[in-house]
Amino acid sequence: MTTTLITGASSGLGAEMARQLAARGEDLALCARRTDRLEELRTEILAAHPERRVALRTLDVTDPDQVPVVFEELRAELGGLDRVVVNAGLGKGAALGTGQAAANRETATTNFLGALAQTEAAVEVFRAQRSGHLVMVSSMSAMRGMPKSMTTYAATKIGAAFLAEGLRTELHGTELGRTVDVTVLYPGYIASEMNEQVAQQTPLMVSTEKGVRSMVAAIEKRADSACVPALPWAPLSVVMKHAPLGVLKRLL
Ligand SMILES: NC(=O)c1ccc[n+]([C@@H]2O[C@H](COP(=O)([O-])OP(=O)(O)OC[C@H]3O[C@@H](n4cnc5c(N)ncnc54)[C@H](OP(=O)(O)O)[C@@H]3O)[C@@H](O)[C@H]2O)c1
Repeated sequence: MTTTLITGASSGLGAEMARQLAARGEDLALCARRTDRLEELRTEILAAHPERRVALRTLDVTDPDQVPVVFEELRAELGGLDRVVVNAGLGKGAALGTGQAAANRETATTNFLGALAQTEAAVEVFRAQRSGHLVMVSSMSAMRGMPKSMTTYAATKIGAAFLAEGLRTELHGTELGRTVDVTVLYPGYIASEMNEQVAQQTPLMVSTEKGVRSMVAAIEKRADSACVPALPWAPLSVVMKHAPLGVLKRLL
């Protein structure tokens, strides 16, 4: 029996991960600010899988005092947390120096400081119970410095990935490293509230269900890292990392 905490579970990838993990027999701890959405999702999941346990909490990940309190409450309620998926995120942003610093700061606070608070709280639980699985939801945009509205977002996503990577490096070869795993997911375009406007503009967008199936497969494999879906994003990651800037800009 696995108990999985997912932040940002009120919509998009987080909500669909909850559906698919429940179908695979996992108990769930779901967090977000829009609690009404979480209640609806719990009703839906329990209708399909009455034997599952689904605990809910209102959580704003930008509140560093609230995050560990909520994680600990959920751990106590469910009798442990086997896995924490750091998923809550924001896609606001504007080109640097164009007078929209507040939007970039909001994205940085949610995606990086929020991810840091969640990782601290999750790893504290894992250290105490001497086991666990941290799943960090990064982004394909973390492969390279991105222009314009993506600049800050991409920077937060490589930052979040490096929190997880750093933890994996620390754990490597240690006693705790045998029982604590770290997975970093790099999603490409997957339909969600965040990218509703982008949906019309790229043929690379996949449905929420298909994209999340790929995320869940990587989670269950406890892969170190995965571009999801693997095609076209795993080969594209090489191009994104190494292409000359002129070529990269034409791709974006
Ligand atoms: N969809 C994609 O193509 C794609 C690609 C790469 C990476 N990602 C990443 O995947 C993750 C999920 O995004 P999504 O695409 O599913 O977008 P989404 O549908 O907009 O979902 C974002 C989730 O994050 C939560 N959230 C935002 N700010 C929060 C805060 N301050 N405190 C707590 N929860 C907060 C939202 O819940 P509330 O508003 O209810 O709090 C919502 O549940 C994000 O980290 C995103 O960067 C998505």
